[in-house]
Amino acid sequence: MSSIKDSFSNLFSLEDVCFDIDGKVILSKINVVIDTSGITGIIGPSGSGKSTFLRLLNKLISPTQGIVKFKDSDIAEMKSQDLRKEIGMVLQRPFLFKGTVKSNLLYGPKIWNIDYIDPELVKLLDTVSLEADFLERDVEGLSGGEQQRVSLARSLANQPIVLLLDEPTTALDIVSEEIIENTLKQLASEGIKIIIVTHSLEQTKRLTEQLLFLKEGLLIEKTTTKDFFKRYNDQEIRSFFKNKEGK
Ligand SMILES: Nc1ncnc2c1ncn2[C@@H]1O[C@H](COP(=O)(O)OP(=O)(O)OP(=O)(O)O)[C@@H](O)[C@H]1O
Ligand SMILES: [Mg+2]
Repeated sequence: MSSIKDSFSNLFSLEDVCFDIDGKVILSKINVVIDTSGITGIIGPSGSGKSTFLRLLNKLISPTQGIVKFKDSDIAEMKSQDLRKEIGMVLQRPFLFKGTVKSNLLYGPKIWNIDYIDPELVKLLDTVSLEADFLERDVEGLSGGEQQRVSLARSLANQPIVLLLDEPTTALDIVSEEIIENTLKQLASEGIKIIIVTHSLEQTKRLTEQLLFLKEGLLIEKTTTKDFFKRYNDQEIRSFFKNKEGK
């Protein structure tokens, strides 16, 4: 029996969450509820705490103060492994295990004694627009875009209900970016909740329905994407992205 609840009202809620390292405040008093059927963007200047925020959600790090809840339960009380079955994460730089694409895809399901037969793996690859013959390919020979797509497929192999993505297309060419964005839109339409850190305002507009705007460790705004871009003009938005040094 799963230790994670099936019925819930909020996907994530953060209550007075602070995170600091060696006395340096990285995130300060974050109070927010994330519950959406669409895609949520996390935007803000470099160093504002976006990756830190994301890492708190699947317990890669724990808050110094405050509570992070997933489906109304404090994640401090959950096993990391249980949590990460439901919450997949894709990092900015693809992180794959040595070996074939197939062995990467099977890695997570194996932990859960879930068996996949090849046609199912091929279907998974198809989700990220990779052909069946990629299954036996060594990951070392893949391009950055292909590696990133495998890493997305590997997260999906666990059948998560949430995907956390930390600038997943930053290092990619336009075609790979488009493939990943289309995959994400498709997944969102199938009901997977997606939270994506992005530094691209264009990507924010293309993909997200709501966004969290962080600056210097503070949550400045939680709003719909439409409203954000209606309320502020380009110049104002650009000024938001300047960091303390004005760069
Ligand atoms: N393990 C750590 N040790 C020391 N400082 C850290 C650590 N992790 C994060 N920081 C600092 O916390 C701040 C926020 O980092 P974070 O990576 O969350 O920012 P970000 O918004 O994701 O930035 P970027 O857009 O450049 O990826 C930065 O000033 C960073 O140097
Ligand atoms: Mg980051």
